[in-house]
Amino acid sequence: MCGISGIISTKNISKRLVNGIRNLEYRGYDSCGVALSNGKGNIAVKKNIGVVDEVDKMEGLSMMRGKVGIAHTRWATHGTVSQDNTHPHLSCKGDFACVHNGIISNYRSLKESLQKEGHKFLSETDTEVIPHLLEKYYAKTKDVEKAFVEALEQLDGTYAIAMISLYELDKIYCAKFESPLILGIGEDANYIGSDFNAFIEYTKNSVILDSGEYAIVTSGSYTVKDMLRMEPVEKETLKISWDAEMSKKGGYPHYMLKEIYEQPQAIVNAMGIDSHKIREIAEAASKSGQTYLLGVGTTFYVAKYGQYAFSNFGKRFFPCISSDEFLNLAEIDENTLLIALSQSGETYDTLNAIRFAKKEGAKVAAVVNVIGSTLSRTADYSILQGSGPEICVISTKAAISQMVILTRIAMELGVIQGKISELEKNELERHILELPDTIQKVLNENSGILNTLALRYSKIKNWLYLGRGIYYPVALESALKMKEVAYVHAEGMPAGFLKHGTIAMIDPEHYAVAFVPPKECEELYNLTMGSIEEIKARKGFVLGFYFNDTDVNGDLFDEKIVLPSMHPVAAPFLQLIAAQLFAYFTAIALKRNVDKPRSLAKSVTVA
Ligand code: F6R
Repeated sequence: MCGISGIISTKNISKRLVNGIRNLEYRGYDSCGVALSNGKGNIAVKKNIGVVDEVDKMEGLSMMRGKVGIAHTRWATHGTVSQDNTHPHLSCKGDFACVHNGIISNYRSLKESLQKEGHKFLSETDTEVIPHLLEKYYAKTKDVEKAFVEALEQLDGTYAIAMISLYELDKIYCAKFESPLILGIGEDANYIGSDFNAFIEYTKNSVILDSGEYAIVTSGSYTVKDMLRMEPVEKETLKISWDAEMSKKGGYPHYMLKEIYEQPQAIVNAMGIDSHKIREIAEAASKSGQTYLLGVGTTFYVAKYGQYAFSNFGKRFFPCISSDEFLNLAEIDENTLLIALSQSGETYDTLNAIRFAKKEGAKVAAVVNVIGSTLSRTADYSILQGSGPEICVISTKAAISQMVILTRIAMELGVIQGKISELEKNELERHILELPDTIQKVLNENSGILNTLALRYSKIKNWLYLGRGIYYPVALESALKMKEVAYVHAEGMPAGFLKHGTIAMIDPEHYAVAFVPPKECEELYNLTMGSIEEIKARKGFVLGFYFNDTDVNGDLFDEKIVLPSMHPVAAPFLQLIAAQLFAYFTAIALKRNVDKPRSLAKSVTVA
């Protein structure tokens, strides 16, 4: 949700700075800009609407010259997408330039009083109050650091801010309150970024700012301070284990496809997570008075998947709540455990739920992909899933990996509760370990037919995605993929729910996808087939995703995707992967912006 890049060096930085926001585009991509100082008494700002390469071409961002600068790629929250609303924003005299990620919730009252004092605003953004506040407090203190801290004290809400000033051209100031911000410590330069991708090509050494901290960064040093006391705090340097190559497309036309193809490895990595870490969370769940599962968007569906896994293998029912509704539903005390899922570890809704629960004394376990993220550092038990960078805005491999990890925790809980034996657990794990090879086979052998079907049905405006049991969250997540990447309406629903209302819509013009379990899940299989019969009786269209079991009545399906048979613990993953591909190819047929769908951003750090 907006990307910040800042660099201070002994050399010209414009190309690196532009590269930084290009690598952060998945956080927001409606407009972007750069503020650069060439040390000659002014700050040059260039910005416009469009993705980084378009704006670079229009405005010549990478042709600018300077050794200290900040840049921003925007996902509009306050104010339309316009050149004026694009960051960086300047103070009246142009002596302070700022970029910001997050939301300043009291900006209206701040803006009103600044306007009364004579400050002229050029944008509708909340951000623009920051350079004006800096100007105001600098006039009072004649000290950039004091002005910065006084300005920060006025702000309510969430922020990651980077600022350059004409009065100290050898420094970048930056601050964090809830929105992510990290420093990169390089050889000839130091960096600031919303995440590692801003600078991973240049350095792997980073320092993660915590809420309430600010930093003063020069080309050869950095100091992190506490906002309240303005005193230095000791910070650890973290070595990033991802490398720049992992964040590149590697020959695939889109990151989404690359990341779908990386799922076998993501599963291998998830299965390789230390069993002590899995056991720790399973034990905490076993001892808790109440365990909640939470996530939002895809991770809510992952949590729902986990809910079925906990009921199936752990024989414990855990409520699953979408993070944005958590405060409206959950009852928390010191015996509560939250199991939170998040790819980025920075999602506002999830972090907000966790802060609330922690205040009430609950414990938090987290499964997170991004190393050093807020969630991974605030949780009591944290599992880093090790899926590697997920650049496409649409989550695929991170979600699959989390589903595997939750299944492992659920099975471990089953062992602790005496519901399954260690031997049974090992046997189930062995079946999950068969997945990477089988997925590879599905990717190789089913892509062609999925592409053909996507082309054939790309004009369909509405789909119903149906599944029963653990195939219900598969249907929900598959439908979300279709909505977000192809902009085609798809509704996930329990297949058994159909007859309670929605069936009234079924006619020959109605299109459904049915996720059919393996035949050995007898009851689930029969009930799902029953729902398909109900659709066929009304001449509705059914695309069936089913397994290569013997004697499935293929006549019931208008189209089908037949997947290799697998043990029930592993089978749902294959269906989800096939549905991801179906959504991807539909998006291609409709010429959608696959890696950066309209109106979306990778990491939603606002309420
Ligand atoms: C969907 C998607 C979003 C995220 C959601 C939570 O493909 O990516 O629905 O799953 O915004 O994000 P994280 O997992 O970063 O907390």
